[in-house]
Amino acid sequence: MNRLLRFFTLQLTFFTFLLSLFTYPSSALAQTWTTIENGKTWMDTEGRPVYANGGNFLLKDGVWYLVGEDRSSAWMPDVNLYCSTDFVHWKFVHKIIENRRSHPDLGRRRMIERPKLLFCPETQKFVVWCHWEARNYGASEAAVFECDSVGGDYEYVWSGRPLGTKSRDCNVFVDNDGTAFFISTTDENTNLGLFMLTSDYRQAVSKTVLCEGLRREAPAIVHIDSTYYMISSACTGWEPNQAKLCVSRNLHVGWSRLFNIGDPIAYDSQASSVLTIHGTEQTTYLYVGDRWMDPTLPESKIIILPIEWRNFHTGELSKTKDENHRQMVLNYRDRFEIDFKTGVWRDF
Ligand code: GAL
Repeated sequence: MNRLLRFFTLQLTFFTFLLSLFTYPSSALAQTWTTIENGKTWMDTEGRPVYANGGNFLLKDGVWYLVGEDRSSAWMPDVNLYCSTDFVHWKFVHKIIENRRSHPDLGRRRMIERPKLLFCPETQKFVVWCHWEARNYGASEAAVFECDSVGGDYEYVWSGRPLGTKSRDCNVFVDNDGTAFFISTTDENTNLGLFMLTSDYRQAVSKTVLCEGLRREAPAIVHIDSTYYMISSACTGWEPNQAKLCVSRNLHVGWSRLFNIGDPIAYDSQASSVLTIHGTEQTTYLYVGDRWMDPTLPESKIIILPIEWRNFHTGELSKTKDENHRQMVLNYRDRFEIDFKTGVWRDF
């Protein structure tokens, strides 16, 4: 009996050993490459085009959420939410904000542009800040919506001019310490207003004027090491223009002058955010832009490009930022591959 048991135990150990030979190298070394293609219409898992422009991505508990304008009715955009676990297969979740339903003025006297999704750690709620506008862009307001679950019907919290400031094109920025900001083009497209939010993300409490008199919009900020980077565009409606970069060690003061980044029309896009992909091997930053009117408004595309870093002295490019490679560079790629686990990216 004992010998039989030993025989089977040995057999089992042998087979486990054999099995580990086959599985170990693949599970330990395999890269899961995701191909990101630019300029094509993304289709959702039901085979319908993804309509989510002017929005943003949120990564929560291993799931990517994509929120944005559904421009299938051009001047009455609803807000669509999609989710994905691999950044390629996008499942339509819900119209989280819908004309009429979410607010009686929505779809009549007001429309939503650039809905931005945040998760508030304090309230455990999902919050949307957006541009809340009249057809003639004269309202110059923002609005806030909130929901207990990411894919539910968002409830109206507030709308108006933040701290009395005329506010148009907008974005959000959450600093590494969790402080959230609403940033928008203010004062008839003259300045940028950086509005610090309360810890429940429902209201603006203070304002700093940035890019004073420079007439910038679509500001996308990212905080890397000890530096803030902001990519923004000029105000030319849905026509693309030269993206510009400015940097500062302090979010509120000391911003550099504007430097050109990318080609003269930002590869036919307008910045919407810079995603930070913290991988096990490297941190990669992805530029996300809106390619408006391609060829019509509803068919606007989302453009994603890996950010490269130049050695200021040698001109050499690196895929990662380090001591020697600190200058942000944006090059166009029709497609590239990225492993979201390791953070590594490569040309296709
Ligand atoms: C763009 C802006 C868009 C939208 C559009 C309307 O400049 O970035 O969000 O407002 O103008 O013309």
